[in-house]
Amino acid sequence: MKHSKILLLLIFITNTFIAKADEGMWLPQLLGKLNESRMKSLGMKISADDIYSINHGSLKDAVVSFGGFCTGEIISSKGLILTNHHCGFDAIQNHSSLEHNYIRDGFWSKTNAEEIPNKGLYATFIVRIDDVSEAAFAGITSKMSETERMAVIDKNLQQINKDAKKEATQKSFARGFFEGNKYYLFVTETYNDVRLVGAPPSAIGNFGKDTDNWVWPRHTGDFSMFRIYANKDNKPAEYAIDNVPYTPKKSLNISIDGIAENDFTMVFGFPGRTTEYLYSAAVEQIKTINDPAKIAIRDRALNIIDGFMRKDEGIKIQYAAKYASIQNAYKKWQGEVLGLTKTDGVGRKKMQELEFQKRVDANTSLKEKYGNLLQTLETGYSEIKSLGLARDYYQEIVSKIEIFTIVAQLNTLVSAYEKNGQKGFDEAKPKVKAMIEDFMKEFNPIVDKKLFEGLMEMYVKNQPENVVSPMAKTLVDADITVASKIVYMETSLTDLTKLNNLIDGKPEDLIAFMKGSSTVALQKELLSTYQTAVQKDLSALQSRITLAQRTYMQAQIDVFKEKTFFPDANSTLRVTFGKVQGYKPKDGTYYDFKTDLDGVMEKYKPGDYEFDVPEKLRMLHKNKDYGIYGVAGKMPVCFIATNHTTGGNSGSPALDAYGNLIGLNFDRVWEGTMSDINYDASICRNIMVDIRYVLFIVDKFAGADRLVKEMKLVHPKKRK
Ligand code: ARG
Ligand code: GLU
Repeated sequence: MKHSKILLLLIFITNTFIAKADEGMWLPQLLGKLNESRMKSLGMKISADDIYSINHGSLKDAVVSFGGFCTGEIISSKGLILTNHHCGFDAIQNHSSLEHNYIRDGFWSKTNAEEIPNKGLYATFIVRIDDVSEAAFAGITSKMSETERMAVIDKNLQQINKDAKKEATQKSFARGFFEGNKYYLFVTETYNDVRLVGAPPSAIGNFGKDTDNWVWPRHTGDFSMFRIYANKDNKPAEYAIDNVPYTPKKSLNISIDGIAENDFTMVFGFPGRTTEYLYSAAVEQIKTINDPAKIAIRDRALNIIDGFMRKDEGIKIQYAAKYASIQNAYKKWQGEVLGLTKTDGVGRKKMQELEFQKRVDANTSLKEKYGNLLQTLETGYSEIKSLGLARDYYQEIVSKIEIFTIVAQLNTLVSAYEKNGQKGFDEAKPKVKAMIEDFMKEFNPIVDKKLFEGLMEMYVKNQPENVVSPMAKTLVDADITVASKIVYMETSLTDLTKLNNLIDGKPEDLIAFMKGSSTVALQKELLSTYQTAVQKDLSALQSRITLAQRTYMQAQIDVFKEKTFFPDANSTLRVTFGKVQGYKPKDGTYYDFKTDLDGVMEKYKPGDYEFDVPEKLRMLHKNKDYGIYGVAGKMPVCFIATNHTTGGNSGSPALDAYGNLIGLNFDRVWEGTMSDINYDASICRNIMVDIRYVLFIVDKFAGADRLVKEMKLVHPKKRK
């Protein structure tokens, strides 16, 4: 009786923290060593060497970092790139006007000559990844403070970069992994001439908008296409009219055989940031303190902006991108809190910590190294709790009252002048001017004034007095609407012409204006209060916690020898793999793994901002005119799988067992957004648009069959 109880407990503990199925964002160069057999057991038919090789073209040569914020993949021998609609949105928006509204109507180039260049947009290939840990740690001693340690590592990394073998057109950078316990060098090649080839209308590319964002079942055709151009030698070059389409080392074949439940899939891309190895108290704080605070602030901000957007068409366009971006994280955090609660993320961490401490205590050398580690983490996190909240409050609020952003920009000019005189001022000016010019396009002082009133009130009333600016408190305690009249009376801060006059005038005049402005004074006091009451102690504590978390990361590797660890996401190239699979979001409900065009029509609301459907698409649906892309009278749209992804994986290719492209990653399901902190294979799913829907839209909807002709379509399933 007693034995079986212990056995049960053991099984429970083992299952809770040892290599949960399908969790992980793996380094492509280590797949052969760490993951290949597991991948094959899930159904993969190719080898690790087909995915990453430095000796021949491999799948990694078809994957690019798209502009540093998304992922893209090469899908033709002429450098055609596929990525998400929301990744290409900036480019689409920039080329749109009232006459050519590419956001609303889509855009399809008919020839290469019609493809549109995009200033600042680039695509980066990973040439090679090397372990440089040993060289990075040269000269490090255990007695060094965090700052000293970082200084030595930084210096070593500079040398490593300098010594790295690379061609003239290549660059390199090194980055820390496993909280800084390992360093890898990335040799890269970046192409700067990336042109817009095509995009569907927003009603397809962003169908369902904010209502459907982070939600399954989904029906969005979230894709757009670009092309890399190179010089005559196929090497990177700045935009030039006689650049030619890039010939890639590798381009992806496209499977149009579709997917079935339990098929093997992998996603290859550039996930941004995860924190999978936190101490339980940190997870508890995210769940109960930080996420809820940020959600409440954004809730207030979104309500204010939405009120204006509904009444005013101009503001609706002006604030669309900003609203979507504030809303995206706002909604994700809510899912995260729910998911952490449902899966008892904190309880799971505590179970692991119990087992960790037990094993450490049973081993003399481990005990010497790690015996007090959990206690150190506990103390550190309990001390940082209130400071962390104050940081989030300050950052969320001050960044959303944008008049303060303008003040901060002007401040950089003043500091440049104080440091380097007129020369410094003149040097800093073009950048500030360009920034403000860009910024003002999406700024409206009437909206900002309301944001100021609402958010300042939260800042003062929801925080302990010791972290609140006295000036802000006086204003809120008196009457914030009176204060806001004064703050926004200064049109020199909110009118582009007047701002330009200030910047183009004499530095002395700018300084005199800044000295006399009560808005500037308020911004200054908010900042200085934050610096003295929060930031100073926070930095000291943060560096203690960084050290403890780094030690804890290594300790987990040392203690749980039976587990294979993957490093947290850090915007470097990773592979994640799993199976196509539905899931059970709640009791009594099961979600299918796929959706189709009938579902788009079920959601269709004529004239609606989020759920309108273009007439042509309705006709194609009515006539079931799906070409070779439909199956049994249905047009597949999206599907989900157990791949472990995060922000930055947008646009990542979803590949089948043979490495053929089957879909395009663009989101995660609501119940599983906590996978950044606590992945759970039972409810974490990534969302992809089915490649057949992409091709159907390009070919049948847009008539851009010239693009499909460039691609290589294959039938891996029929081959069998
Ligand atoms: N949630 C996805 C991501 O994190 C999609 C965001 C873009 N779509 C939107 N409706 N805001 O990027
Ligand atoms: N939409 C996200 C992105 O832009 C991907 C979704 C996620 O966070 O998993 O990268």
